Amino acid sequence: MSFKIAVAGKGGTGKTTVCSLLLGALMRRGIKPLLAVDADPNSCLAEYLGVEMGHTLGQIRDDTLAKKDEIPAGVSKAQVVEYAMHRALSEQDGFDLLTMGRTEGPGCYCYVNNLLRGFMTELEKNYAFVVIDNEAGLEHLSRRTSRNVDALAVISDGTRAGLTAAGRIVGLVCELDIGVGKSFLVQNRHAGPCLDSVEGASLAGCIPPDPAVEEIGKAGGSLLSLPAESPAAAAADGILEALTGNRWR
Ligand SMILES: Nc1ncnc2c1ncn2[C@@H]1O[C@H](COP(=O)(O)OP(=O)(O)OP(=O)(O)O)[C@@H](O)[C@H]1O
Ligand SMILES: [Mg+2]
Repeated sequence: MSFKIAVAGKGGTGKTTVCSLLLGALMRRGIKPLLAVDADPNSCLAEYLGVEMGHTLGQIRDDTLAKKDEIPAGVSKAQVVEYAMHRALSEQDGFDLLTMGRTEGPGCYCYVNNLLRGFMTELEKNYAFVVIDNEAGLEHLSRRTSRNVDALAVISDGTRAGLTAAGRIVGLVCELDIGVGKSFLVQNRHAGPCLDSVEGASLAGCIPPDPAVEEIGKAGGSLLSLPAESPAAAAADGILEALTGNRWR
């Protein structure tokens, strides 16, 4: 059984940062295998993790399906989609990374998307933990990547707008009944004091503004290289405990 964590929140509140920090916290505990999924169509998780971004699953799927004539007879669409998923999966030191790209475009890919959902569910079973980065806003809540997650970390900064957006997301998650085990609030880039909760979600942790995180955001580098005692990494350790209820122990 794998434990799935996804993030949500207003634009720029630190979703990708928190995903990277959580991955770092999991790696420090020697937990494996780990899968990081970048489900933001404007993918940048690879960058924050300091690894090369390969082709996205959406690209590979579209390229392969566009060359229909070259697909040998007897090879089904299902096989093409499964192949695309495995080609998009990149093995890194300590984790695997799957960058989705634009997988649910305006065209009707319903059949292909259904196939993909099935393969993703099977893939995730191979990992101890799956960490999913999402785009800003609410739209992804209706997609598979935010469904059936064990813990949803709703990220906010200290602003009223960020917290209002977080509250709205938590409310919608309850309403939509999308199989989120538990929603949590994470206050990021906030010198504190942090709120204990927004309605429906208790605080999993508070990440202070960390100059090392800001520097990596600006100049590049890997958030996985932050020392365990850096303020952001230390906060992520506590957040992981809150999100999982110490499940790895
Ligand atoms: N705790 C922190 N301390 C300092 N800088 C931070 C912190 N958290 C995030 N940042 C910086 O804030 C910016 C936004 O963070 P990030 O990209 O993680 O947000 P996001 O929610 O994923 O954004 P988007 O909605 O565009 O996907 C980045 O430049 C990042 O380096
Ligand atoms: Mg992001």
